Amino acid sequence: MKLALPVEILGTGAAVPARVVTNADFAAYLDTNDEWIVTRTGIRERRHASEGESTIQFAVAAARLALERARVDASELDLIICATVTPEYHLPATACLIQAAIGARQVPAYDLSASCAGFIYAFTAASQAIMGGTARTALVVGVDVLSRFTEFQDRGTAIIFGDGGGAVVLRRSESDGPRVLSINTGADGNHARLIWVPAGGTKDPASPRTVNERLHAIRMNGREVYKIAVVRLQQLIQQALDDGGVTIDQIKLLVPHQSNLRIIESVCEKLKLPLERVVVNINRYGNTSAGSIPLALHEALLAGRCGPGDLVLMAAIGAGLAWGSVLLRL
Ligand code: UT7
Repeated sequence: MKLALPVEILGTGAAVPARVVTNADFAAYLDTNDEWIVTRTGIRERRHASEGESTIQFAVAAARLALERARVDASELDLIICATVTPEYHLPATACLIQAAIGARQVPAYDLSASCAGFIYAFTAASQAIMGGTARTALVVGVDVLSRFTEFQDRGTAIIFGDGGGAVVLRRSESDGPRVLSINTGADGNHARLIWVPAGGTKDPASPRTVNERLHAIRMNGREVYKIAVVRLQQLIQQALDDGGVTIDQIKLLVPHQSNLRIIESVCEKLKLPLERVVVNINRYGNTSAGSIPLALHEALLAGRCGPGDLVLMAAIGAGLAWGSVLLRL
């Protein structure tokens, strides 16, 4: 959708666990090897939460850093949205825990579940709140700790996921410059069980049986998701460009969800976008679900790969299937 929202990113932050899990760690006990993992996914290592760590630590660390870099005090926030499919608890919302931890006022705080597209959905919701006038300054966190929902004997999923997240502080911009130029979000629930966790919800609540049958771990039909993701991501990016009235050559940096290096490469090849203008950190973090885009954006900004005035395009697809893109001028 074509937009011209005066909403700008004031600051970003990110946080990942210290514990590094390499491909060799999996090869030590699973029928897999470094070469397969690197060539099929691009992943060399990922971070996993240690015992005692959970979603909230990474969410709060990322949020604090984003606020610091934005030079915004937590008391200035009017809205907090946390995109996650691995919340601290089923209830209350992780966003409420973030609110208390950072010392924000009693403003709306809620979680949003759109898996790998979660950050894009949350960015959209926050931008709408800012434009609708119910918030001036918003904190958007994207964070996941999927290692807590991983079956480590399943080589098809165990090697993929990493933990961590990122955050952005958004504010209605006073100047003429920064703009959200287009947002596109969508979903297709017909593919709901291509990536899912079968138990733990109302359909099949936690019981000794669900634990024994390992039904609390993520299941993924990777091959099917792959086929859809390659096509949908390309369409999504093209739509974002068309809606924003810009060409791929004008994009300073593409920040794609880090699901598979081959997916990113294939999409970029079709779009004729050189990889030098694409953020890739899947080699170090694996797929961090809702955490991946804010983490990648934060790293890109720190590295000086993009800055004020640059056009940046973020795009993701994941469980749902749900997808989304945001085209913005920093
Ligand atoms: O972020 C949410 C969105 N998710 C995605 O976008 C994921 C998209 N899908 C993918 O990234 C890829 O499908 C995977 C990386 C998950 C899998 O790669 P693939 O090339 O699609 O492999 P495959 O599932 O088609 O499996 C090919 C073979 C199978 O063996 P057989 O049946 O041909 O004998 C698998 O059992 O590779 C085997 N395999 C492995 N071999 C070594 C699967 N995982 C592994 C492994 N090590 N870790």
